[in-house]
Amino acid sequence: MFTVAVITVSDKGSQGLRKDTSGPILSEMLKEEGYNIVHECIIPDDQNKIMDTLMELSDRMQVNLILTTGGTGFSMRDVTPEATEAVVERKAPGLAELARLESLKITPKAALSRATSGIRKKSLIVNMPGSPKAAREHLQVLMPILDHGLDILLGLDGECAQTDQGK
Ligand code: MTE
Repeated sequence: MFTVAVITVSDKGSQGLRKDTSGPILSEMLKEEGYNIVHECIIPDDQNKIMDTLMELSDRMQVNLILTTGGTGFSMRDVTPEATEAVVERKAPGLAELARLESLKITPKAALSRATSGIRKKSLIVNMPGSPKAAREHLQVLMPILDHGLDILLGLDGECAQTDQGK
């Protein structure tokens, strides 16, 4: 069972001025698929705080999958992608690219998310937008491939069998 941390990045949410629901939605979706949610938190849009949280979850807690929600847009306070890029050791942009590509079929506003993804140690880090709708849509796209990626990252399945006929 893979361990997961869900970080909600929100100035208002972290001050109790807004009830952010995207984090709990992501956690619930992952629980239903058998993932083990070991950490959930709400932190402000502060680059150092986001970096510290990501490093703690990866280096000390050794969480397999770290999802962030929020702070991927164009507001001057939106710095989640910068914090993520600063801590990842290996690039894995395909996950964010795939989620954005599929999201563009739902709304052109998907282009307004600067979400990224990458690997630090044995943790896969993926950014998601902050709205509950957007976060749900992103995770729905990634859910079918997450376990295979984590298997390979953790050395549980070195083989990448081609199983999707014609895809
Ligand atoms: N992606 C999906 N799938 N669905 C959406 O509704 N909204 C977009 C985009 N990505 C959206 C989406 C909008 S309106 C914005 S502003 C950006 O995500 C950034 O969101 P964030 O600043 O909350 O991270």
